[in-house]
Formats: sequence, C-alpha cells, structure tokens
Amino acid sequence: MAEFDGKIVLVTGSSGIGLGAALHFAREGAKVFVCGNDDAHNAKAREAAGELPLAVATIDVSIPEEVKGWITAIGEGEDGIDILVNAAAIQTYGTTETTDIEHWNRVISINLTSCYLTSHYAYPFMKQRGGGSIVHVSSVQGHANQNAVLAYATSKGGIHALVRAQAVDAAKDNIRVNSISPGSVRTPLLEFAARTAATDGKSVDDMIAEFGKAHPIGRVGTVEETGALIAFLCSDKAGFCTGGDYLIDGGLTAGIGV
Ligand SMILES: NC(=O)c1ccc[n+]([C@@H]2O[C@H](COP(=O)([O-])OP(=O)(O)OC[C@H]3O[C@@H](n4cnc5c(N)ncnc54)[C@H](O)[C@@H]3O)[C@@H](O)[C@H]2O)c1
Repeated sequence: MAEFDGKIVLVTGSSGIGLGAALHFAREGAKVFVCGNDDAHNAKAREAAGELPLAVATIDVSIPEEVKGWITAIGEGEDGIDILVNAAAIQTYGTTETTDIEHWNRVISINLTSCYLTSHYAYPFMKQRGGGSIVHVSSVQGHANQNAVLAYATSKGGIHALVRAQAVDAAKDNIRVNSISPGSVRTPLLEFAARTAATDGKSVDDMIAEFGKAHPIGRVGTVEETGALIAFLCSDKAGFCTGGDYLIDGGLTAGIGV
C-alpha cells in the first residue's frame, strides 16, 4: 500500500516546487489536483504526470470566485479533501520607494491572500474527512531577506503568522497547518531570479551555481527534496507537527555569510 493511497490532494502552482510535491503525492497513491494560471506550465505538468492520477486546471489563485469554483467542485466530487499545498507565487523586486500600490497588492494577493482563500474553501471539505493537513510554501526571505524584495518578503513573513493563527484554531478539527521555507531551489522562479541578477554575460547556469555557493551545502536544492519535506509534513508521521515553519535551505540561514 502506498503512503497516500485514497488521499485527495490539492496543490497550487503547476511548476517547480508545486509540481515536485504534486508528483510525489501522485506516485505515492494520492489523487492530485493541481492549478496554475500559466498555460505553458500547465501543459508541462500534464506531460510530466503521464499516466499518474494528476489533473491540472487553469485557475488564478488571486481571484476568489475561481478558487472557490475549483475547490468546491473537487470537494463535492471527491467527498472531501485531505491535503492542501500552496506553492503558487510570484517573485518581484522593489523597495519602499519603488513599489507602487498595484505591485504591492498583486504580490500580497497572489502569494499570501491565496493561502487564506484556498484554506477557507478547503476547510469544510477537510472537516468532512475528519481532518487534514495544509502546507504553505514560504521562503527563507520570510526570515531574512536580500535587497529590494519588499512585497515578496512581506508576503512570505505573512505566511508564518498565517500558519500560527490557522494552526491554533484548526487543531480541534484535526487539521494541521505548517509552512516550509526553502533556500534556493532550481525552478522556473529561480531561473527568473538568475536572469535578473546575471551580469557580465553570465548564463543562468552560472548564476545558479553562484547561488548554490552561498549555501553551506554548496548547491541549490531540488524539487524532489522540497516535495519529500512537504509530503512528510502531510503524512501521519508528522502527527505532532502543527504551527511550525520548516527550513529547507542547505544551511543558508544558519550562517552569517562571512
Ligand atoms: N525556487 C526557489 O528558490 C524558492 C525559494 C524560496 C521559496 N520559493 C517559493 O516556492 C514556491 C514555488 O515557487 P517555484 O520556485 O516553484 O516557482 P515557479 O515559478 O516554478 O512556481 C510558481 C507557480 O505559481 C504559478 N502562479 C503564479 N501566479 C499564479 C496565479 N495568480 N494563479 C495561479 N498560479 C500562479 C506559476 O505559473 C508557477 O507555475 C513559491 O511560493 C516561491 O515563493 C521558491
């Protein structure tokens, strides 16, 4: 018997860390529903899933009606939901001076409000199953951040407070809530960061190797590694884990960089 046999799993974000987690759950017997708003990512996710029980929907997680429709249809069709993983997000750059209100609202709504929204609509379906598990993907940047990531870092720090608030309320319903805070993990988002940071004709691969050197382990992480941690937090083995944030950062935040 596979670890997640019979489980209904929702994942936001159809590439990178979200897809890595979704594939892990599907290989371990779960029926997985993924959403994303990028057609190219969604198509690649369907291809990666092959014959696995993994469906991909085109949904914008910042639009409440779309989130409600996606989750309600799954919850009703499957007689409940067991696991929710929120990995959809955007990374943008800006300081207090350069971040306008449209930029701020967009990042907060995609990266943070979506974690509340999906939880809100999934909650009754988790209660219907007698409990469940929620994992939000935060970031090391919710703990300490680089320059000019005002809205992004705020959205990630907000996830840590959201997790605590949700966890203390949801324990009575046997619903556990945690987050993970990755360091650099090779995904389309990290490749975007690498292209943005590249100077002197450096390639994305060069930049990612440089990012890796900033981590004591000497490399960036993989979506298989983050998928395994998310799956552990959603498994019965993690039955005493709720309200926490779990670093998966190759030692990045353990050092002081000198
Ligand atoms: N890769 C890293 O180094 C790293 C480090 C720390 C934290 N994270 C976090 O991990 C999570 C996953 O990021 P990733 O690195 O896998 O990047 P990614 O870009 O591969 O994944 C994010 C996904 O979210 C989707 N998305 C963006 N806006 C959306 C919207 N409005 N509605 C629906 N889907 C939307 C994107 O299309 C993409 O598929 C994010 O929360 C990110 O902040 C990543």
